[in-house]
Amino acid sequence: MFDLLAKVTGAFGVSGNEEEIRNTIIEEIKDKVDEIKTDTLGNLFAIKKGRGKKIMVAAHMDEIGIMVIHIDEKGFIRFTNIGGVSSFTSIGQRVRFKNGVIGVVSYEEKLDDIKKLDLSKMYIDIGAKNREETGKLVKIGDTACFCGDAVRQGDFAISKAMDDRCGCAVAIGAIKNLSQTDNEIYFVFTVQEELGLRGATTAAYQIMPDFAIALDVTGTGDKPESRLMEVKLGAGPAIKIRDRSLICHPEVRKLLEDAAKRNNIPYQYEILEWGGTDAGAIQLTGGGIPSGVISVPCRYIHTPSEMICMSDYENAVKLLVEAIR
Ligand code: CO
Ligand code: ZN
Repeated sequence: MFDLLAKVTGAFGVSGNEEEIRNTIIEEIKDKVDEIKTDTLGNLFAIKKGRGKKIMVAAHMDEIGIMVIHIDEKGFIRFTNIGGVSSFTSIGQRVRFKNGVIGVVSYEEKLDDIKKLDLSKMYIDIGAKNREETGKLVKIGDTACFCGDAVRQGDFAISKAMDDRCGCAVAIGAIKNLSQTDNEIYFVFTVQEELGLRGATTAAYQIMPDFAIALDVTGTGDKPESRLMEVKLGAGPAIKIRDRSLICHPEVRKLLEDAAKRNNIPYQYEILEWGGTDAGAIQLTGGGIPSGVISVPCRYIHTPSEMICMSDYENAVKLLVEAIR
């Protein structure tokens, strides 16, 4: 299971440029579902046909990153964010463009007060001599992801893009492990979640499912001097109660609780006071779609070193399989 996690977290897929990760996922699942298709925005649908309940399972395949807005005379790149990128955690990191070019993120040395640091005071250095040389490798509008190879250490795994390739890996795991069911299940790997749940919005409209389950990571309250939050690493997948994008539907929540209890799968409850996820967009589609979320607890979200617990991830797969069966 770690190998799958390493494969999907390693793929390039900054919001709006999800081709590489989409192809990686297609390779993994193509023989295991009845139909695969891609829509206008780039959402990937993997469908298991059936005559029972129509269920949408959504995991976003995009990741945060940066976009080039200017290249100066000396060849340094100025950039803006794609999704929630912190200027502080970006210092000293490497970024990778789609063509493999690596850059170092740094900031203006003359900055007198580090608290005033924002992305406009930062730049990317790809080691080119001038604007022309940089321009041969990197163009205005190009995006880059952060570098952060997946490593496993005991029950922990650390990588870039656990948000939300971990959710994609849970969906892939469920596709591979799903036992016989009559339900019609739409596994959707959505685009542009990090820019405002955009792919999920159009995907839900196309499917109009009976109910939906989104898969994502969530924050934890178990680090030194953390904000107050019940969720901790290693205590099982979290069943979301609410975040800033939705209050989960009581029936979907109960479905998840019952599936966990029936199968002795450990779980915890999540109330996330910042951030949202695909389910927030899905629930507001059409006349309203009952939606819930299975979250994998994750430390250091939106850094290149997002940390999860392997057992939470494995139990999330079990919980999803049992809930949609
Ligand atoms: Co995110
Ligand atoms: Zn996410």
